[in-house]
Amino acid sequence: MSIEIPAGLTDLLKGYTVEVLRSRPPDLVEFAIQYFSRLRESNTFRPISRSPDPTLTERKAVSFEEDAQPSGLSADEEDDAFSEELHFKPPPPKFTRRVSVCAEAYNPDDDVDDENEPRIVHSKTDEQRHRLQEACKDILLFKTLELEQFSEVLDAMFEVLVKPEEHIIDQGKDGDNFYVIERGVYDILVQKDGVSICVGKYDNKGSFGELALMYNTPRAATIIAKQQGALWALDRATFHRLIVKANAKKRKMYEVFVESVPLLKSLELSERMKIVDVLGMKSFKDGELIIMQGDEADCFYMVESGVVKIMMKSKTKAGPMANEEVEIARCSRGQYFGELALVAEKPRAASVYAVGETKCLVMDVQAFERLLGSCKEIMKRNIASYEEQLVALFGSSADLRH
Ligand code: CMP
Ligand code: CMP
Repeated sequence: MSIEIPAGLTDLLKGYTVEVLRSRPPDLVEFAIQYFSRLRESNTFRPISRSPDPTLTERKAVSFEEDAQPSGLSADEEDDAFSEELHFKPPPPKFTRRVSVCAEAYNPDDDVDDENEPRIVHSKTDEQRHRLQEACKDILLFKTLELEQFSEVLDAMFEVLVKPEEHIIDQGKDGDNFYVIERGVYDILVQKDGVSICVGKYDNKGSFGELALMYNTPRAATIIAKQQGALWALDRATFHRLIVKANAKKRKMYEVFVESVPLLKSLELSERMKIVDVLGMKSFKDGELIIMQGDEADCFYMVESGVVKIMMKSKTKAGPMANEEVEIARCSRGQYFGELALVAEKPRAASVYAVGETKCLVMDVQAFERLLGSCKEIMKRNIASYEEQLVALFGSSADLRH
Protein backbone atom coordinates (compact mmCIF):
# COMPACT_ATOMS: atom_id res chain seq x y z
CA MET A 1 0.00 0.00 0.00
CA SER A 2 1.46 3.36 -0.92
CA ILE A 3 0.71 6.35 1.22
CA GLU A 4 0.81 9.78 -0.30
CA ILE A 5 2.32 12.39 1.99
CA PRO A 6 0.36 15.63 1.64
CA ALA A 7 2.40 18.48 0.23
CA GLY A 8 3.65 20.77 2.92
CA LEU A 9 3.31 18.28 5.78
CA THR A 10 7.04 17.67 6.11
CA ASP A 11 7.83 21.38 6.27
CA LEU A 12 4.98 22.05 8.65
CA LEU A 13 6.28 19.44 11.08
CA LYS A 14 9.86 20.53 10.52
CA GLY A 15 8.91 24.09 11.52
CA TYR A 16 7.29 22.79 14.68
CA THR A 17 10.29 20.59 15.50
CA VAL A 18 12.73 23.47 15.05
CA GLU A 19 10.65 25.62 17.38
CA VAL A 20 10.53 22.82 19.98
CA LEU A 21 14.31 22.45 19.84
CA ARG A 22 14.69 26.20 20.16
CA SER A 23 12.25 26.77 23.01
CA ARG A 24 12.50 23.39 24.79
CA PRO A 25 8.95 23.61 26.19
CA PRO A 26 8.05 21.39 29.16
CA ASP A 27 4.72 20.32 27.64
CA LEU A 28 4.95 19.33 23.98
CA VAL A 29 1.21 18.98 23.44
CA GLU A 30 0.41 22.37 24.96
CA PHE A 31 3.26 23.89 22.93
CA ALA A 32 1.90 22.28 19.76
CA ILE A 33 -1.56 23.73 20.41
CA GLN A 34 -0.10 27.18 20.89
CA TYR A 35 2.30 26.89 17.98
CA PHE A 36 -0.28 25.74 15.44
CA SER A 37 -2.95 28.15 16.73
CA ARG A 38 -0.53 31.02 16.24
CA LEU A 39 0.43 29.69 12.86
CA ARG A 40 -3.22 29.73 11.85
CA GLU A 41 -3.76 33.20 13.34
CA SER A 42 -0.71 34.55 11.59
CA ASN A 43 -2.35 33.37 8.35
CA THR A 44 0.96 32.49 6.82
CA PHE A 45 -0.07 29.03 5.68
CA ARG A 46 -2.83 29.33 3.15
CA PRO A 47 -3.41 26.94 0.26
CA ILE A 48 -2.54 28.54 -3.04
CA SER A 49 -5.81 27.35 -4.56
CA ARG A 50 -7.79 29.61 -2.27
CA SER A 51 -8.83 32.76 -4.06
CA PRO A 52 -7.64 35.98 -2.48
CA ASP A 53 -9.99 37.49 0.03
CA PRO A 54 -11.45 40.54 -1.74
CA THR A 55 -11.32 42.55 1.47
CA LEU A 56 -7.57 42.13 1.57
CA THR A 57 -6.93 44.29 -1.42
CA GLU A 58 -9.14 47.06 -0.17
CA ARG A 59 -7.70 49.43 2.32
CA LYS A 60 -7.86 53.00 3.59
CA ALA A 61 -10.05 54.10 6.42
CA VAL A 62 -9.02 57.65 5.67
CA SER A 63 -8.03 59.46 2.54
CA PHE A 64 -4.64 61.01 2.06
CA GLU A 65 -1.88 61.39 -0.48
CA GLU A 66 0.10 58.29 -1.21
CA ASP A 67 3.38 57.41 -2.86
CA ALA A 68 3.59 54.08 -4.58
CA GLN A 69 6.32 52.04 -2.93
CA PRO A 70 8.10 49.16 -4.55
CA SER A 71 9.00 46.61 -1.94
CA GLY A 72 12.60 46.59 -3.13
CA LEU A 73 12.83 42.84 -2.63
CA SER A 74 12.62 40.14 -5.25
CA ALA A 75 9.95 37.47 -4.75
CA ASP A 76 12.62 35.04 -3.57
CA GLU A 77 14.10 37.52 -1.14
CA GLU A 78 10.65 38.20 0.19
CA ASP A 79 9.96 34.52 0.70
CA ASP A 80 13.30 34.06 2.43
CA ALA A 81 12.59 37.06 4.55
CA PHE A 82 9.18 35.81 5.55
CA SER A 83 9.88 34.01 8.77
CA GLU A 84 8.01 36.10 11.27
CA GLU A 85 8.11 35.96 15.00
CA LEU A 86 7.31 32.28 15.30
CA HIS A 87 10.73 31.59 13.79
CA PHE A 88 9.52 28.89 11.45
CA LYS A 89 11.07 28.25 8.05
CA PRO A 90 9.55 29.92 5.00
CA PRO A 91 6.38 28.20 3.77
CA PRO A 92 6.85 25.33 1.33
CA PRO A 93 5.92 25.92 -2.31
CA LYS A 94 2.46 24.37 -1.95
CA PHE A 95 1.52 27.02 0.57
CA THR A 96 1.81 30.71 0.37
CA ARG A 97 1.45 33.64 2.69
CA ARG A 98 -1.54 35.96 2.64
CA VAL A 99 -2.36 37.05 -0.84
CA SER A 100 -2.77 40.72 -0.20
CA VAL A 101 -1.32 44.16 -0.52
CA CYS A 102 1.15 43.22 2.24
CA ALA A 103 4.14 42.35 0.16
CA GLU A 104 6.81 43.11 2.71
CA ALA A 105 8.06 40.43 4.97
CA TYR A 106 9.19 40.55 8.52
CA ASN A 107 12.78 39.49 8.85
CA PRO A 108 14.90 40.66 11.76
CA ASP A 109 18.09 39.39 10.16
CA ASP A 110 17.52 41.02 6.81
CA ASP A 111 20.82 42.57 5.85
CA VAL A 112 19.68 43.92 2.51
CA ASP A 113 21.26 47.29 1.98
CA ASP A 114 18.29 49.59 1.45
CA GLU A 115 20.27 52.81 1.15
CA ASN A 116 19.03 53.09 -2.43
CA GLU A 117 15.37 52.65 -1.61
CA PRO A 118 13.34 55.74 -2.43
CA ARG A 119 12.65 57.88 0.62
CA ILE A 120 9.14 59.19 1.14
CA VAL A 121 8.99 62.85 2.04
CA HIS A 122 5.74 64.72 2.70
CA SER A 123 6.55 68.41 2.85
CA LYS A 124 5.32 70.27 5.92
CA THR A 125 5.08 73.82 7.11
CA ASP A 126 7.15 74.79 10.18
CA GLU A 127 3.95 74.83 12.20
CA GLN A 128 3.02 71.30 11.05
CA ARG A 129 6.51 70.01 11.75
CA HIS A 130 6.34 71.48 15.25
CA ARG A 131 2.97 69.82 15.95
CA LEU A 132 4.27 66.53 14.56
CA GLN A 133 7.37 66.63 16.76
CA GLU A 134 5.22 67.29 19.83
CA ALA A 135 2.93 64.36 18.99
CA CYS A 136 5.88 62.02 18.44
CA LYS A 137 8.10 62.95 21.36
CA ASP A 138 6.75 60.26 23.69
CA ILE A 139 6.02 57.54 21.15
CA LEU A 140 7.74 54.44 22.53
CA LEU A 141 8.30 52.78 19.16
CA PHE A 142 10.40 55.77 18.12
CA LYS A 143 12.51 55.75 21.28
CA THR A 144 15.06 53.29 19.98
CA LEU A 145 15.61 55.06 16.65
CA GLU A 146 18.82 56.87 15.85
CA LEU A 147 18.36 60.62 15.35
CA GLU A 148 18.73 60.30 11.59
CA GLN A 149 16.14 57.53 11.37
CA PHE A 150 13.75 59.50 13.54
CA SER A 151 14.14 62.48 11.25
CA GLU A 152 13.37 60.24 8.24
CA VAL A 153 10.26 58.99 10.00
CA LEU A 154 9.11 62.56 10.60
CA ASP A 155 9.75 63.43 6.94
CA ALA A 156 7.60 60.54 5.77
CA MET A 157 4.66 61.18 8.07
CA PHE A 158 1.57 62.93 6.80
CA GLU A 159 -1.38 64.55 8.52
CA VAL A 160 -4.79 62.85 8.57
CA LEU A 161 -7.82 64.75 9.85
CA VAL A 162 -10.66 62.57 11.10
CA LYS A 163 -14.36 63.05 11.76
CA PRO A 164 -16.45 61.68 14.64
CA GLU A 165 -17.35 57.98 14.15
CA GLU A 166 -14.80 57.59 11.37
CA HIS A 167 -13.20 54.15 11.27
CA ILE A 168 -9.47 54.67 11.11
CA ILE A 169 -8.78 50.95 11.17
CA ASP A 170 -11.09 47.97 10.70
CA GLN A 171 -10.26 44.66 12.32
CA GLY A 172 -9.42 41.97 9.76
CA LYS A 173 -8.28 44.38 7.05
CA ASP A 174 -4.72 44.72 5.83
CA GLY A 175 -2.45 47.26 7.44
CA ASP A 176 -1.65 50.39 5.48
CA ASN A 177 -0.30 52.89 7.99
CA PHE A 178 0.92 53.30 11.54
CA TYR A 179 -0.77 56.22 13.33
CA VAL A 180 0.40 58.69 15.97
CA ILE A 181 -2.31 60.67 17.73
CA GLU A 182 -2.03 64.44 17.78
CA ARG A 183 -5.50 64.97 19.23
CA GLY A 184 -8.83 63.24 19.64
CA VAL A 185 -10.34 60.28 21.47
CA TYR A 186 -10.41 56.90 19.79
CA ASP A 187 -12.21 53.71 20.87
CA ILE A 188 -10.48 50.32 20.52
CA LEU A 189 -12.90 47.54 19.61
CA VAL A 190 -12.08 43.85 19.39
CA GLN A 191 -14.43 41.18 18.01
CA LYS A 192 -14.94 38.30 20.42
CA ASP A 193 -17.32 35.51 19.41
CA GLY A 194 -18.84 37.76 16.79
CA VAL A 195 -19.48 40.55 19.29
CA SER A 196 -17.56 43.81 19.17
CA ILE A 197 -16.20 44.75 22.60
CA CYS A 198 -14.65 48.07 23.51
CA VAL A 199 -11.38 47.06 25.19
CA GLY A 200 -9.94 50.52 25.74
CA LYS A 201 -9.45 53.97 24.30
CA TYR A 202 -6.75 56.42 23.33
CA ASP A 203 -7.24 59.84 24.85
CA ASN A 204 -5.36 62.55 22.96
CA LYS A 205 -2.06 60.68 22.97
CA GLY A 206 -0.37 57.45 21.94
CA SER A 207 -0.15 55.49 18.74
CA PHE A 208 -1.76 52.49 17.09
CA GLY A 209 -1.68 50.29 14.02
CA GLU A 210 1.79 48.81 14.50
CA LEU A 211 0.81 45.15 14.84
CA ALA A 212 -0.38 44.44 11.29
CA LEU A 213 2.74 46.13 9.92
CA MET A 214 5.18 44.39 12.27
CA TYR A 215 3.84 40.87 11.92
CA ASN A 216 2.22 40.97 8.49
CA THR A 217 -1.13 40.03 9.99
CA PRO A 218 -4.63 41.45 9.53
CA ARG A 219 -5.61 44.37 11.75
CA ALA A 220 -6.20 43.05 15.28
CA ALA A 221 -8.72 45.69 16.37
CA THR A 222 -11.04 48.38 15.05
CA ILE A 223 -10.19 51.97 15.89
CA ILE A 224 -13.00 54.56 15.76
CA ALA A 225 -12.68 58.32 16.26
CA LYS A 226 -15.12 59.58 18.89
CA GLN A 227 -14.67 63.22 17.97
CA GLN A 228 -12.88 65.34 15.41
CA GLY A 229 -9.23 64.55 15.62
CA ALA A 230 -5.84 64.75 13.99
CA LEU A 231 -3.43 61.90 13.35
CA TRP A 232 -0.02 61.56 11.78
CA ALA A 233 0.35 58.51 9.56
CA LEU A 234 3.47 56.62 8.57
CA ASP A 235 3.24 54.42 5.48
CA ARG A 236 3.85 50.70 5.69
CA ALA A 237 7.05 50.67 3.62
CA THR A 238 8.79 53.33 5.73
CA PHE A 239 7.55 51.74 8.94
CA HIS A 240 9.05 48.48 7.81
CA ARG A 241 12.33 49.93 6.64
CA LEU A 242 12.96 51.94 9.78
CA ILE A 243 10.92 50.65 12.72
CA VAL A 244 10.92 46.94 12.03
CA LYS A 245 14.65 47.01 11.38
CA ALA A 246 15.26 48.93 14.60
CA ASN A 247 13.14 46.32 16.35
CA ALA A 248 15.37 43.55 15.07
CA LYS A 249 18.30 45.21 16.84
CA LYS A 250 16.12 45.77 19.91
CA ARG A 251 15.32 42.06 20.07
CA LYS A 252 19.01 41.23 20.05
CA MET A 253 19.75 43.85 22.72
CA TYR A 254 16.97 42.97 25.13
CA GLU A 255 16.44 39.26 24.52
CA VAL A 256 18.71 38.30 27.41
CA PHE A 257 17.24 40.98 29.65
CA VAL A 258 13.59 39.93 29.19
CA GLU A 259 14.61 36.29 29.76
CA SER A 260 15.84 37.39 33.17
CA VAL A 261 12.74 39.29 34.28
CA PRO A 262 11.00 37.03 36.83
CA LEU A 263 7.57 38.50 36.01
CA LEU A 264 7.86 37.34 32.39
CA LYS A 265 9.13 33.82 33.14
CA SER A 266 5.76 32.17 32.52
CA LEU A 267 5.46 33.59 29.00
CA GLU A 268 6.43 31.83 25.80
CA LEU A 269 9.56 33.05 24.01
CA SER A 270 7.47 34.51 21.17
CA GLU A 271 5.32 36.39 23.70
CA ARG A 272 8.42 37.85 25.33
CA MET A 273 9.69 38.94 21.92
CA LYS A 274 6.38 40.68 21.21
CA ILE A 275 6.90 42.58 24.43
CA VAL A 276 10.37 43.64 23.30
CA ASP A 277 8.92 44.81 19.97
CA VAL A 278 6.68 47.39 21.63
CA LEU A 279 9.04 48.50 24.41
CA GLY A 280 10.64 51.90 24.48
CA MET A 281 13.82 52.78 26.34
CA LYS A 282 13.92 55.82 28.62
CA SER A 283 17.03 57.09 30.42
CA PHE A 284 16.85 59.08 33.65
CA LYS A 285 19.44 61.14 35.48
CA ASP A 286 20.17 60.81 39.18
CA GLY A 287 17.20 62.13 41.18
CA GLU A 288 14.93 62.54 38.13
CA LEU A 289 11.21 62.03 38.71
CA ILE A 290 9.89 59.06 36.73
CA ILE A 291 6.39 58.78 38.19
CA MET A 292 4.53 61.35 40.28
CA GLN A 293 2.15 60.20 42.99
CA GLY A 294 -1.45 61.12 42.11
CA ASP A 295 -0.81 61.40 38.34
CA GLU A 296 -2.89 59.54 35.81
CA ALA A 297 -1.10 56.41 34.59
CA ASP A 298 -0.41 55.45 31.01
CA CYS A 299 2.60 53.15 31.14
CA PHE A 300 4.47 50.37 32.87
CA TYR A 301 8.23 50.19 33.59
CA MET A 302 10.96 47.57 33.97
CA VAL A 303 14.39 48.57 35.29
CA GLU A 304 17.05 47.70 32.74
CA SER A 305 19.99 49.27 34.58
CA GLY A 306 20.44 51.37 37.70
CA VAL A 307 18.04 51.71 40.60
CA VAL A 308 14.79 53.53 41.32
CA LYS A 309 13.33 54.46 44.68
CA ILE A 310 9.63 54.44 45.47
CA MET A 311 8.57 57.34 47.67
CA MET A 312 5.14 57.89 49.19
CA LYS A 313 3.48 60.82 50.90
CA SER A 314 1.75 59.53 53.97
CA LYS A 315 -1.70 60.99 54.48
CA THR A 316 -2.07 59.21 57.80
CA LYS A 317 0.98 60.72 59.48
CA ALA A 318 0.16 63.77 61.51
CA GLY A 319 2.54 66.46 62.77
CA PRO A 320 5.63 67.90 61.07
CA MET A 321 6.15 64.73 58.96
CA ALA A 322 2.68 65.04 57.41
CA ASN A 323 2.76 64.95 53.61
CA GLU A 324 6.51 64.33 53.53
CA GLU A 325 7.76 61.69 51.16
CA VAL A 326 8.98 58.49 52.78
CA GLU A 327 11.03 55.90 50.92
CA ILE A 328 9.12 52.62 50.80
CA ALA A 329 11.07 50.46 48.37
CA ARG A 330 13.78 50.25 45.70
CA CYS A 331 13.78 48.38 42.39
CA SER A 332 16.82 47.31 40.42
CA ARG A 333 17.56 45.42 37.17
CA GLY A 334 14.79 43.00 36.23
CA GLN A 335 12.24 44.47 38.61
CA TYR A 336 9.14 46.38 37.54
CA PHE A 337 7.02 49.26 38.79
CA GLY A 338 4.07 51.36 37.68
CA GLU A 339 1.76 48.38 37.33
CA LEU A 340 -0.45 49.22 40.30
CA ALA A 341 -2.27 52.20 38.81
CA LEU A 342 -2.87 50.23 35.58
CA VAL A 343 -4.19 47.13 37.37
CA ALA A 344 -6.29 49.09 39.88
CA GLU A 345 -7.27 51.81 37.37
CA LYS A 346 -6.37 54.43 39.95
CA PRO A 347 -3.90 57.34 40.04
CA ARG A 348 -0.25 56.59 40.78
CA ALA A 349 0.05 55.37 44.40
CA ALA A 350 3.62 56.60 44.90
CA SER A 351 6.34 58.67 43.28
CA VAL A 352 9.35 57.02 41.67
CA TYR A 353 12.82 58.61 41.29
CA ALA A 354 16.01 57.48 39.59
CA VAL A 355 18.94 56.73 41.90
CA GLY A 356 22.00 57.40 39.75
CA GLU A 357 21.83 57.01 35.97
CA THR A 358 18.95 54.66 35.29
CA LYS A 359 17.49 53.07 32.19
CA CYS A 360 13.96 51.71 32.07
CA LEU A 361 12.06 49.79 29.44
CA VAL A 362 8.60 51.25 29.09
CA MET A 363 5.37 49.78 27.74
CA ASP A 364 2.14 51.70 27.11
CA VAL A 365 -1.11 50.75 28.81
CA GLN A 366 -2.64 49.22 25.66
CA ALA A 367 0.32 46.88 25.17
CA PHE A 368 0.32 46.15 28.92
CA GLU A 369 -3.33 45.02 28.71
CA ARG A 370 -2.76 43.03 25.55
CA LEU A 371 0.53 41.32 26.43
CA LEU A 372 0.70 41.08 30.21
CA GLY A 373 -2.84 39.92 30.99
CA SER A 374 -1.56 36.51 32.07
CA CYS A 375 1.00 38.09 34.43
CA LYS A 376 -1.61 40.05 36.34
CA GLU A 377 -2.09 37.36 38.98
CA ILE A 378 1.60 37.61 39.92
CA MET A 379 1.30 41.39 40.05
CA LYS A 380 -1.77 41.19 42.26
CA ARG A 381 0.11 38.98 44.72
CA ASN A 382 2.86 41.59 44.88
CA ILE A 383 0.32 44.35 45.39
CA ALA A 384 -0.91 42.45 48.47
CA SER A 385 2.65 42.60 49.79
CA TYR A 386 2.76 46.39 49.18
CA GLU A 387 -0.18 46.70 51.53
CA GLU A 388 1.69 44.78 54.24
CA GLN A 389 4.69 47.04 53.64
CA LEU A 390 2.55 50.14 54.12
CA VAL A 391 1.03 48.80 57.33
CA ALA A 392 4.54 48.20 58.66
CA LEU A 393 5.63 51.72 57.70
CA PHE A 394 2.60 53.87 58.36
CA GLY A 395 0.54 51.72 60.71
CA SER A 396 -2.22 51.53 58.10
CA SER A 397 -2.38 50.74 54.42
CA ALA A 398 -3.89 52.96 51.76
CA ASP A 399 -6.59 51.12 49.86
CA LEU A 400 -4.35 50.32 46.92
CA ARG A 401 -6.62 48.16 44.86
CA HIS A 402 -10.05 49.76 44.87
P1 CMP B 1 -3.09 46.72 14.28
O1 CMP B 1 -3.48 45.32 14.50
O2 CMP B 1 -2.18 47.04 13.17
O3 CMP B 1 -4.42 47.59 14.11
C1 CMP B 1 -5.28 47.74 15.24
C2 CMP B 1 -4.46 48.33 16.37
O4 CMP B 1 -5.13 48.50 17.60
C3 CMP B 1 -3.33 47.37 16.74
O5 CMP B 1 -2.44 47.30 15.66
C4 CMP B 1 -2.83 48.00 18.03
O6 CMP B 1 -1.96 49.07 17.73
C5 CMP B 1 -4.12 48.59 18.61
N1 CMP B 1 -4.62 47.88 19.81
C6 CMP B 1 -4.83 48.45 21.01
N2 CMP B 1 -5.32 47.58 21.89
C7 CMP B 1 -5.42 46.40 21.25
C8 CMP B 1 -5.84 45.10 21.64
N3 CMP B 1 -6.30 44.83 22.88
N4 CMP B 1 -5.78 44.11 20.73
C9 CMP B 1 -5.35 44.37 19.49
N5 CMP B 1 -4.94 45.57 19.05
C10 CMP B 1 -4.97 46.59 19.91
P1 CMP C 1 1.86 52.84 40.49
O1 CMP C 1 0.86 53.14 41.55
O2 CMP C 1 1.38 52.71 39.11
O3 CMP C 1 3.05 53.91 40.57
C1 CMP C 1 3.89 53.89 41.72
C2 CMP C 1 4.48 52.51 41.86
O4 CMP C 1 5.28 52.24 43.01
C3 CMP C 1 3.37 51.47 42.02
O5 CMP C 1 2.58 51.45 40.85
C4 CMP C 1 4.15 50.24 42.36
O6 CMP C 1 4.68 49.65 41.20
C5 CMP C 1 5.35 50.81 43.14
N1 CMP C 1 5.33 50.42 44.56
C6 CMP C 1 6.28 49.69 45.19
N2 CMP C 1 5.98 49.48 46.48
C7 CMP C 1 4.79 50.05 46.68
C8 CMP C 1 3.95 50.15 47.83
N3 CMP C 1 4.27 49.62 49.00
N4 CMP C 1 2.78 50.80 47.67
C9 CMP C 1 2.44 51.35 46.50
N5 CMP C 1 3.23 51.30 45.37
C10 CMP C 1 4.37 50.64 45.47
